Amino acid sequence: MEAGCCYVPLMRIVVTAGPTREAIDPVRFISNRSSGRMGYAVAEEAVARGHGVVLIAGPVALADPPGAQVIRVTTSEDMLAAVGNALESCDALVMAAAVADWRPVTVSAEKIKKSRIPPVIRLEPAPDILKTLRPRKGGRIFVGFAAETGNPLPEAVRKLRDKGLDMIVANDVSQADAGFDVETNRCTLVTGEDEAVALPLMSKMDVAGRILDWIEKRRAG
Ligand code: PMT
Repeated sequence: MEAGCCYVPLMRIVVTAGPTREAIDPVRFISNRSSGRMGYAVAEEAVARGHGVVLIAGPVALADPPGAQVIRVTTSEDMLAAVGNALESCDALVMAAAVADWRPVTVSAEKIKKSRIPPVIRLEPAPDILKTLRPRKGGRIFVGFAAETGNPLPEAVRKLRDKGLDMIVANDVSQADAGFDVETNRCTLVTGEDEAVALPLMSKMDVAGRILDWIEKRRAG
């Protein structure tokens, strides 16, 4: 670090990435299009800056980032347990995963025969990881993402407050060059102090850098 530059303390950062899968039976599930790239970019950039990183990833086809401790999970329940275990010793949590909001009420132990698949599958809310862990936040920095179609800001601000976050990264996932399963993203960083910084289209690595700049600045006070 250059003389005269502000001191950035190294942190232990938990990052989530990718989708979750909620089983219907042993071969079918409910999931979404998350590739894991956004969360992996945050993990890689955090490692490159010298932070200790625990990356909790749903089913993705990406190689483990060198230097990060990677925990692979499948369901929202698994992810909640893994984040809950890692939380105690972390300074910041970045929830880039696209966690299921709903899951089937019953999971068949046997593959459901095509002729017996019910026309309607009953769903129940999946655990909301950020809301569940909110009482344990303490002095930790919590960053969430808001995946929206159309103007993402009103919903992002609602989620920021509802989930007790320090910052939320709003992305309009209806655009072909942003959001799910692409290398680039177009985000607005919205903070609990009602600041909103709109970033231009950039690589997910560059978005990750901007998120970590903010976290480091917040941590340094
Ligand atoms: O993985 P990529 O292909 O790179 O795509 C990146 C991305 C689009 C998945 C990412 O940029 C993104 O927007 N991630 C959050 C997706 C999402 O679930 O958004 P949401 O608005 O439904 O959830 C809001 C926040 O609550 C998120 O931080 C989410 O992780 C969290 N959440 C959601 C549901 C749930 N049951 N528990 C949660 O904690």
